[in-house]
Amino acid sequence: MRHISHFQSSFGSRVVVALMGLGLVGFVVFHMLGNLQVFEGPEALNSYAATLRDMPILLWAARIGLLGVVIVHITLAIRLALRNRRARPVAYAVREYRRASLASRTMALTGSVLVLFIVFHLLHLTAGIADPSVHNRLDAAGRLDVYGKVVHAFQNPLYVALYLVGQLALGVHLSHAVSGSLQTLGIEHAAFNRLFKRAGLAVGLFVVLGNLAIIFAIFFGIVGA
Ligand code: HEM
Repeated sequence: MRHISHFQSSFGSRVVVALMGLGLVGFVVFHMLGNLQVFEGPEALNSYAATLRDMPILLWAARIGLLGVVIVHITLAIRLALRNRRARPVAYAVREYRRASLASRTMALTGSVLVLFIVFHLLHLTAGIADPSVHNRLDAAGRLDVYGKVVHAFQNPLYVALYLVGQLALGVHLSHAVSGSLQTLGIEHAAFNRLFKRAGLAVGLFVVLGNLAIIFAIFFGIVGA
């Protein structure tokens, strides 16, 4: 009896982790697409950022929702990882290691790096702690110069390096997260699993390549020179 309820609650947690994870994937895709407007210039990016700020209730509802989802996702994911470890007192056999992908075995590591990256990113670009001189600068139209902040950041090799570490963690985490979540929610079938794996890789690559395009275009002076 104890076994069944343990199994059910683990499965319930996996479903919640999966659903919330997919919601977070939606956010990073949306965020990357919004940020790509840096290629259109200051007008596009700053007016996009101003539009988001002009809807404070919606913005704060989204921020609080996002924070809540992140906290529940992380708490349940840690609990599941600890439970799995407890249920497997002997370390993985080599054969099992070969079956599980590198990405799936490093979810806790890439997830932890992502948390550190997000905290740093919020302090850096949302709170402006790292660059207070550029943080509150306005553009010619009197809007917050988000374009200027981003360009200033990625002209600095130190920030480029820190963001690249974040992108590496994001890419590896997403590549397993999407396929793992779809498998948790979906059908256990070899053909579907292959499809889900490809979808995971595609989403991970899409987001990371979009973000890398922004970082490198600024660093190499293609944008904002
Ligand atoms: C090259 C990559 C990225 C760029 C250029 C970028 C840019 C920005 C900028 C400019 C802001 C502040 C917006 C403002 O002040 O109006 C911001 C906020 C934020 N970013 Fe990013 N970001 C990147 C990657 C990421 C990633 C990978 C994540 C999550 C894994 C993320 C999560 C967030 C969050 C949660 C906020 C706070 C949103 C809010 O203010 O409500 N960002 N980002």
